[in-house]
Amino acid sequence: MSSIRDVVSLKLFSREQLDGILDLAESFEDIARGKKRSELLAGKVLATLFYEPSTRTRLSFETAMLRLGGQVLSVADALQTSSAWKGESLADTVRTVQNYADAIAIRHPEKWAAHNAAKYASVPVLNAGDDANEHPTQGLLDLLTVRRERGSIDGQTIVMVGDNKHCRSNHSFADGLANYNARLVLVNPPELALDREQIKEIEAKGRLAVGETTDLPEALKQADVMYIVRIQKERYSDPAEYERMKGSYKVDRAMLEAAGPNISVMHPMPRVDELAPDVDDYPGACYFRQSFNGVLIRMALLALVLGKAQLR
Ligand code: CP
Repeated sequence: MSSIRDVVSLKLFSREQLDGILDLAESFEDIARGKKRSELLAGKVLATLFYEPSTRTRLSFETAMLRLGGQVLSVADALQTSSAWKGESLADTVRTVQNYADAIAIRHPEKWAAHNAAKYASVPVLNAGDDANEHPTQGLLDLLTVRRERGSIDGQTIVMVGDNKHCRSNHSFADGLANYNARLVLVNPPELALDREQIKEIEAKGRLAVGETTDLPEALKQADVMYIVRIQKERYSDPAEYERMKGSYKVDRAMLEAAGPNISVMHPMPRVDELAPDVDDYPGACYFRQSFNGVLIRMALLALVLGKAQLR
């Protein structure tokens, strides 16, 4: 048996823990779809403290809690509407919110904010994204999506396209993939490359083979999964630099069909212009199923950190 208190980084999880979380997540399918009722988290309260915008992460945390019989306190725009606006420190905020909630899901524009919150909080902290750093619950739902769409994570070639430098979803997905015998092909302009140190860490685990190219059509010919993300506008201090990188890669249905009929197309969303709407009815398009998988993963994580489930 293994217990989990905080979920701040996928770097801290073993393959056995990851597989256990994915299995637990899938066991919640009927409850997530509203076909079965659950009171597993009755009497428990989750606070969602979001200092950056979100559609999927905050709402899927909240529906996960509600579907499991728990309750939610939500701050959707904490920089403006919490006492952070008056200058309160994050350490003081979490030591206050722990009096009102049994767990805290936090999204914050500062790197390591969730890690720091976890040091101060007496209740579990779940990292819902810290700056351009990590987004571990997204990484888990991405692993689950590969497993559900392809039957296995081992043996897959994942082509990761776009802003591999700034996109925290990519960082956490790559950290998760590092535990599987698979292949990761990074496709980006040189300016948007994944951090060298992260690639070294991944390779040191000896499971995931990592390759890099700027040739998207060639990479797609090898792909079982294409994972594409937008250029992360909010991470650029220089608007001219964003304008220069914007539109670096765009994928449409014709490109996918030229590469093959059986590529699973993932996107953590939101999308801007990097993935054309005509991909939506390409057979492998699975980004809306991917966002549903976020409910399953967040149910599993909430059940685990609140002591209502355990990993074998
Ligand atoms: N994937 C993701 O983090 O989406 P949101 O910004 O909508 O939460």
